[in-house]
Amino acid sequence: MNEVKLDFSGLMHGGDYNPEQWLDCPEILAEDIRLMQKAGVNCVTLGVFSWATYQPTENEFHVDWLLERMDALWAAGIHVILATPTGARPAWMDLKYTETMRVAKNGVRNHHGLRHNHCMSSPVFRQKAADITEKVATAVAGHPALRMWHLSNEYGGDCFCPHCVQNFRSWLKQKYGTIDALNHAWWSTFWSHRFASFDEVEPPYENGETSMPALILDWKRFTTAITTDCMQAEIDILRRITPNLPVTTNFMVFFEGLDYHAMAPHLDMISWDSYPLWHTDAQTAADVAADAAFDHALMRGIGGGKPFLLMESAPGLANWHPYNKLRRPGMHRCASMQAVACGSDSVQYFQWRKSRGSFEQYHGAVVDHAGGENHRVFKEVAQLGEMLAQVGAVQGGETPAQAAFVFDWDNRWAVESIVGLAKETVKYEETLRSFYRTFVQNGVAADIIAENADFSGYKLLVLPLHYLLKPGFSTRLSHFVKNGGRVLATYLLGYVDATTLCHLGGFPGEGLAELFGVNATEIDTLYPTDRNATTLDGQRFEIKDYCEILQPLGDETQVLAQYESDFYANTPVITRKQTGAGAAYYLGARLEQAGNEALLRQIFAECGIETETLADGAQHHVRQTEGERFDFYLNFGAEPAAFAVEKDATLLSGVAPQNGCLQLAPYEVTVTKTAL
Ligand code: GLA
Ligand code: ZN
Repeated sequence: MNEVKLDFSGLMHGGDYNPEQWLDCPEILAEDIRLMQKAGVNCVTLGVFSWATYQPTENEFHVDWLLERMDALWAAGIHVILATPTGARPAWMDLKYTETMRVAKNGVRNHHGLRHNHCMSSPVFRQKAADITEKVATAVAGHPALRMWHLSNEYGGDCFCPHCVQNFRSWLKQKYGTIDALNHAWWSTFWSHRFASFDEVEPPYENGETSMPALILDWKRFTTAITTDCMQAEIDILRRITPNLPVTTNFMVFFEGLDYHAMAPHLDMISWDSYPLWHTDAQTAADVAADAAFDHALMRGIGGGKPFLLMESAPGLANWHPYNKLRRPGMHRCASMQAVACGSDSVQYFQWRKSRGSFEQYHGAVVDHAGGENHRVFKEVAQLGEMLAQVGAVQGGETPAQAAFVFDWDNRWAVESIVGLAKETVKYEETLRSFYRTFVQNGVAADIIAENADFSGYKLLVLPLHYLLKPGFSTRLSHFVKNGGRVLATYLLGYVDATTLCHLGGFPGEGLAELFGVNATEIDTLYPTDRNATTLDGQRFEIKDYCEILQPLGDETQVLAQYESDFYANTPVITRKQTGAGAAYYLGARLEQAGNEALLRQIFAECGIETETLADGAQHHVRQTEGERFDFYLNFGAEPAAFAVEKDATLLSGVAPQNGCLQLAPYEVTVTKTAL
């Protein structure tokens, strides 16, 4: 992270504000400011899709409307985050310069429309994006309301145009040096797929080369690189004109298309857009809420554990989910405060006022089509504004954690493109989340960190399906264990190197077999209805989907549990090996969640990590500033929940605890403060 500091005191509250849709309605613009003040809004994001308003034709530029809005907002004490408008292009550009439009996977160029669909390599797009960024930045530089830059919007997608193909080839040349090195890394002698020069390499067109996992992985890495390059071109301009303003871009949590760990170093702060599916029958409330905590932890980890910004969330409802259920009364507070509890220094919305027409006219917003402050959603937002003001001192506070999950985009991409296993049951994301739920539901804080992060502050690392090993990782993991750390890894550990070549000499590779004390000699992919089982500490747990056959290496490997049935009955499924002051646990199969929980509770005890007994859907999170500790208690469950609270804690907001006990009704939240 670059870390130009954000100049803002307290927690931000506001969101995307699109006054350009209402410039012919001065009464609405004035009403917006009155209502923002009523709702406790202190910061709005302007300009997200304003390119066509700035530049309705190629040679025009209008920014007065923006400056007027910024002046009016600032006069009311409201700060501004300003987006660069490059997330969507005006029609004149696409029609005159067709190369700015993206080429899809099938090799066909898109027509004008939608958004987020520019070619990242097009020199014309780059020039036009640079021009508009420069013009807007110059016009607003020094404006007292301006606090931060929001680069484009939700970067994503790839482009298969000739410019991008050329850039891909140069990127590969830079990476591999010689075509022979690429041929080796991609194992291209297979099926006669060898390349004689970089000019023969094509991207993975859907009707072309889709059979090489290493090519697909490199294409994804390239897409991150070209997107980052495009983003950096904007950052360079902004740094020159407004060097003291931090830059961010809004991420989309577990987004498949980009490696956010690679983008983060270019930004000053991480921000992201959160749209969980609350109140669904498909998952329990406790699970949805635990998944939301996972999302926040992932985003926090991308920023190296620093506070992040919740840049968008839906007051009321979204419009693009399969079903767009209203947030039930109280859920807005609970979900928003959870973001703060997990490290956010803001609660921002998409959007301030519902659009009158077009694609998002029914998306939730603070101000409804009906207008005014009497709408249920507006009232809940205004109440939240009060709560955020009461807990403003938490700003900047970090979230202490003794455990961490290691998550790596390359690994995720590699696991998801394995040809083998079963497409239906790979479920990488789901597996990660199900382990994480156990942590949340046991009151154990866990970070989600990059594979190259510093492990030394943790007692426990969890590595679900850590299939791809990058150089140096296994050595750092071994040091971590020798120095007293505990690690839990699962089936699929360490099969391939960073280019997806299998390790020779047995899995896991790179010395991890010694560390864990096992070889995984075979992996069995079960049919969906197949079940095996195991018994851990007298309790029986089901196994499904994947079973590795494990061979212990030497006497130091303790077998904690064995398969119950099949031809590998009575062979190990869970093992532990002590090394130095620490220990490495290996789980060779997909256990039901209760089994993961039983195993993790053993490991927590061994690490000295305390657990809490929490009611279904109840969560407890902690943030700490230099001198103070903030405890957040949240009840996402359908029943009242009781929490044990420290006696000397001071109530900051919410329900008062009585004699060290706090009772929260469904969706209630309490925040207390304790001096450290
Ligand atoms: C994304 C976009 C917003 C808006 C919302 C709707 O997060 O960034 O512009 O489309 O989705 O949920
Ligand atoms: Zn392109």
